[in-house]
Parts: sequence; structure tokens; C-alpha cells
Amino acid sequence: MTDDLEGFTHRFEQGSAAGSLPILLLHGTGGDENDLIDLGRVVAPGSALLSPRGPVLEHGMPRFFRRLAEGVFDEADVKRRADELAGFVTAARQHYALEAPIALGFSNGANIAAAMLMQRPDVLSGAVLLRAMVPLVNPPAASIPGTPVLLVSGTQDPIAPTSNAAQLASQLRERGAGVEHRIVPAGHGLTQADVNLAAAFVKAAAKAPAL
Ligand code: MLT
Repeated sequence: MTDDLEGFTHRFEQGSAAGSLPILLLHGTGGDENDLIDLGRVVAPGSALLSPRGPVLEHGMPRFFRRLAEGVFDEADVKRRADELAGFVTAARQHYALEAPIALGFSNGANIAAAMLMQRPDVLSGAVLLRAMVPLVNPPAASIPGTPVLLVSGTQDPIAPTSNAAQLASQLRERGAGVEHRIVPAGHGLTQADVNLAAAFVKAAAKAPAL
């Protein structure tokens, strides 16, 4: 089902597995609400899937925030969009009766998830950030104690270099998150290793006590 909530076109799939946490799917540049549904089903079988479309258009390609150039972000827009996405997640939790979700974001979707973790620490139970980079040079001094975060970077990624992802890992750790940063032999595109790491992480996070 594709629907609209708080101005976000999105797709929602009901969960079937008792005790599973919902997954917030956040696509990369040029994707939409359908892109990561199959990935979500494999990574988190039986979980409810909530998949919004990025509301910003860059030459017709949906994104979750504006950028000024490749890898150069409009940080005021990042903050504003992170707040709006947090509003959508809050509304969707009420509408669909959901617990706080784990974000599963790729590229631009991973970057907005990272921004939301630091700007609106109450919104997510955890996050899988695939090919993420620093979205905010000086993020808010949020406290996210124990929030589990998996970052997966590719050794040959020209868009989100491992060194930049390592800075993001530090920002998140400084705010208390439990960060696992894994580096796989890949470029910006996802591989089976990403899927396996994400699935193991989500399984473990679902068993951990609710935050
Ligand atoms: C971004 O947010 O711009 C990403 O890191 C790169 C992309 O989405 O192409």
C-alpha cells in the first residue's frame, strides 16, 4: 500500500512475527518507497516495514535532504528534514500502532537516519547505516545511550569513504550509541555481506530489551 502521512508518501507492510521491531526503510538518491522493501523482508523477516519516499527532488530524483554538491550537504536542510521525518515516524507509530523502529538506510537514507539519531534521539530504537557519511559537521549534543548502530562501509566506495564513516561512528559513540563499524570489500553498491551483517544485527537488536 502506498499512502500519505504528514506529507510523506510511503508504503507500509504489517508485521507477522511476534516480538519483532518495525523497520524504517530509507532509500538512497533516486529511489522511492518501493526500493528497499525486498531488502527489508530479507533482513528482518516478519517485521513491519515502514518505507517513506524522500520528499526532496534533485533533478527529479527523490532524496531525504538537499545537497549543494556531491558529498556537500545543506546542513540547515538536513536538520529541518530530520525533524520532519521524525514527525512522520511519530505519526506512523500512532497510526499503525508501532514500537520505535530500527532504521535501515542506504546512502542518502543512511545519512538522514544518522542525522535523526543525533537530532531526535527519541525516535529510533537503533539503526543500520549502509554506506553512510557525516551528515552534520557539528551535530546536536544528543544523548543516545546504548542505542545499537551498525555502520557498514565499502573499501572502494568513492562516495562515502571509510574515513568519513569512521568520523560518523565517533560522533555517534560520543553521544553514547553502541556502534559497530564494519568494512566490507565493496564499492557504494550493496553486497551479500551487507545483507548478512544487517540481518544478524536486526536479529540481535530484536532480542535485546526494548529501549
Ligand atoms: C548523499 O546523501 O548525498 C549520499 O551520501 C550520496 C548519495 O545519496 O548519492
